[in-house]
Amino acid sequence: EEQRLQAGFDATIDRDQRIEPRDWMPEGYRRTLVRQIAQHAHSEIIGMQPEGAWITRAPSLRRKAILFAKVQDEAGHGLYLYSAAETLGADRADLTERLVSGRQKYSSIFNYPTPTFADVGVIGWFVDGAAICNQVPLCRSSYGPYARAMVRICKEESFHQRQGYELLLTMMRGTREQRAMVQDSVDRWWWPSLMMFGPPDGDSPNSAASMAWKIKRHSNDELRQRFVDMTVPQAEKLGVTLPDPDLRWNEERGRHDFGTPDWSELQRVISGDGPCNTERVGRRTAAHEEGAWVREAAAVHAAKQAGRVAG
Ligand code: ACO
Repeated sequence: EEQRLQAGFDATIDRDQRIEPRDWMPEGYRRTLVRQIAQHAHSEIIGMQPEGAWITRAPSLRRKAILFAKVQDEAGHGLYLYSAAETLGADRADLTERLVSGRQKYSSIFNYPTPTFADVGVIGWFVDGAAICNQVPLCRSSYGPYARAMVRICKEESFHQRQGYELLLTMMRGTREQRAMVQDSVDRWWWPSLMMFGPPDGDSPNSAASMAWKIKRHSNDELRQRFVDMTVPQAEKLGVTLPDPDLRWNEERGRHDFGTPDWSELQRVISGDGPCNTERVGRRTAAHEEGAWVREAAAVHAAKQAGRVAG
């Protein structure tokens, strides 16, 4: 029986069709999806913090409205993704517990500080640009609910990327100090953004299985390369320098060569020792505890409603 189910699953993957929640799936497939989707959801929720810190200090009503909309979108992305994880049998309260206790990861990128308003622009341009490179192929991921959630998320990420780039174009037309602020932010975010794509292919333990299952469609290094190729002309247009002396066009490959990120830094940040890890998880934990009364009230209300219907 197991063999027959496995053959059916393999055939669905081979035909590039979708696996849906009620379909049989190998335990490893379910486990890796819950792992990746939960991490992705946690990243969206933790990712509200670095930029959310600028909402009260945005320099104009227009910038504040844009930033508000963007941070709210991220909350929405987290919720679609937690729902997708629930279709695999995961429990949302349990996932949150795993995040705050450090048993589940979230993206390294959100452990860096945002000391200037230019960081809001650079996060949009680099971080959301990297998210688009990584997530557009996930719209074709083999698991239906994840792939469908990605379609809407990518549309919103595209708005996020553009608002960031537009903010930076505006700052670059401003004063010398503003231009310097943009360059400083670019210098700080470039390498961490390249690290978002994960370790190099040779050091990526999950890739082989995830590619065979068509959860991932491209390797970490391939997506990192696409991001570099996409970003270089945008940097030229903006008038900033990307902080990599080895970055140059390679005519033969038809792609850019670039330097090697500091992989020991990525390992440190992932293992909890980045510049803001303690602050990010601390803030999430406090928000979760302060929200306990809302969850309790909602549960009591739901129980009362159910009682009324039953009675
Ligand atoms: N930050 C934190 N952890 C990372 C990162 C990173 N930048 N890159 C890799 N890791 C972790 C992996 O989760 C894995 O740990 P685990 O086995 O405990 O889960 C380990 O490092 C080894 O990496 P890989 O074997 O390459 O892991 P994987 O195949 O899952 O690839 C990737 C990592 C590319 C991040 C993949 O999970 C993915 O595409 N996720 C969906 C996108 C996403 O989560 N984006 C979040 C940031 S974008 C945004 O929210 C704006």
